[in-house]
Amino acid sequence: MDAVERAAALREYAEQTSSCTRCALAKGRTQVVFGSGSPDADLMFVGEAPGFHEDQQGVPFVGQAGKLLDQLLAGIGLTRADVFVANVLMCRPPGNRDPLPDEISACEQHLFRKIELIQPTLVATLGNFATKLLSGRPAGITRVHGHEQEVTLGSRTVSLYPLYHPAAALYTPSMLKVLEEDFARIPALLERTLAEPVAAPEPDAQAEPEPEPVQLGLF
Ligand code: URA
Repeated sequence: MDAVERAAALREYAEQTSSCTRCALAKGRTQVVFGSGSPDADLMFVGEAPGFHEDQQGVPFVGQAGKLLDQLLAGIGLTRADVFVANVLMCRPPGNRDPLPDEISACEQHLFRKIELIQPTLVATLGNFATKLLSGRPAGITRVHGHEQEVTLGSRTVSLYPLYHPAAALYTPSMLKVLEEDFARIPALLERTLAEPVAAPEPDAQAEPEPEPVQLGLF
């Protein structure tokens, strides 16, 4: 699939999953929060789950943690339109409690499909839940943040880059400093993953047309 076809498939997938009932969170949500940003992003962020504001607006990271994410992106010369932002869960857990294992199992196929369609080269996981799910390893974020690792997700190998969750860094200045330092490495990592793609390119990769720009927040 070329980039235009992948963008169309992503839009269709967002439509399909807007009525997902694979887990009990469907009952309490205002809406599914699919993810937002560029459907052809090289850099993708994966957080934990929608909170109150995300559930209301249908867009990930629009609350306080989202404002910090925007600032961190601005610090490396990027905006939300340059990247794709999604979560492990697409529906808000009641009272913002931690995701449960059966909710993660129910939702992971949606995340993997998004990654397959967007084809990022660098996937930055925000916090423990996304890091453990996508690395397939139990090591916590305190140990692994700032250390990129190659992981195979479905048919693709990507570079996984674990980061502290912005919500955790909001009220802990020492953690914010580390998050800023880890963020500062993203441009070089991105350049490296683009220069040395770990997955075999598609045969027609060079001939790929540009996808239609996608309105931020549509997904
Ligand atoms: N925290 C997350 O992990 N995701 C969001 O979308 C908002 C806050």
